[in-house]
Amino acid sequence: MAEANIHPEFHRFMGREAKERLLAQRGVVLWLYGLSGSGKSTIANLTERALSEEGRFTVILDGDNLRSGLNSNLGFSDEDRAENIRRNAEVARLFAEQGIITLVSVITPRRDLRALAREIIGEDFLEVFIKAGYATCAERDPKGLYARAEAGQIGQFTGKDSGFEEPGDEAELVLDTEIHSAEECVRTLLDHLSSRSER
Ligand code: ADX
Repeated sequence: MAEANIHPEFHRFMGREAKERLLAQRGVVLWLYGLSGSGKSTIANLTERALSEEGRFTVILDGDNLRSGLNSNLGFSDEDRAENIRRNAEVARLFAEQGIITLVSVITPRRDLRALAREIIGEDFLEVFIKAGYATCAERDPKGLYARAEAGQIGQFTGKDSGFEEPGDEAELVLDTEIHSAEECVRTLLDHLSSRSER
């Protein structure tokens, strides 16, 4: 087996604590998920700006961006979405382990996929559901994808012919963008983050 010849090495590399001291912050993964058009990228972007004004160092891992590079060989079948999430979670974990506040913005449509990300990332994982229903997202349709899906031009479209499972109790935070403004959602997220880092 190839794994027998792989020797991950950590002890000689600068440790997480030293990086976190340097950055004066703790690494964490804010995993924002929800339908396309629910507001994930908007909230990630505003959160990043607010954190950077406080002197925090962040990275955004965005589904569309990752799919145009690292994950460009993946489509939207159940299997490919699982591989997409696995890779994104592994990358997020690498960043969090360097003390970076990592904002992930990917649909992550199923509970088992969120569980997989949680398993890979461990206690740094913070599950944040960006809630907005299909009809609302279809109305917003910022990328014109809903119109194209309705016209039968996109297959396996999330919420239409590929399922989306809303979370139960497992989401640490639910930000409902049908009820709250993006700014309100960001405030809730930042409050949650600071109460978490005081623990
Ligand atoms: S995930 O389901 O595997 O988590 P991911 O967040 O990486 O999805 O990618 C979703 C993005 O791909 C959407 O924001 C949208 O722009 C684009 N996209 C293209 N085809 C589809 C599709 N069939 N379903 C959902 N999103 C799609």
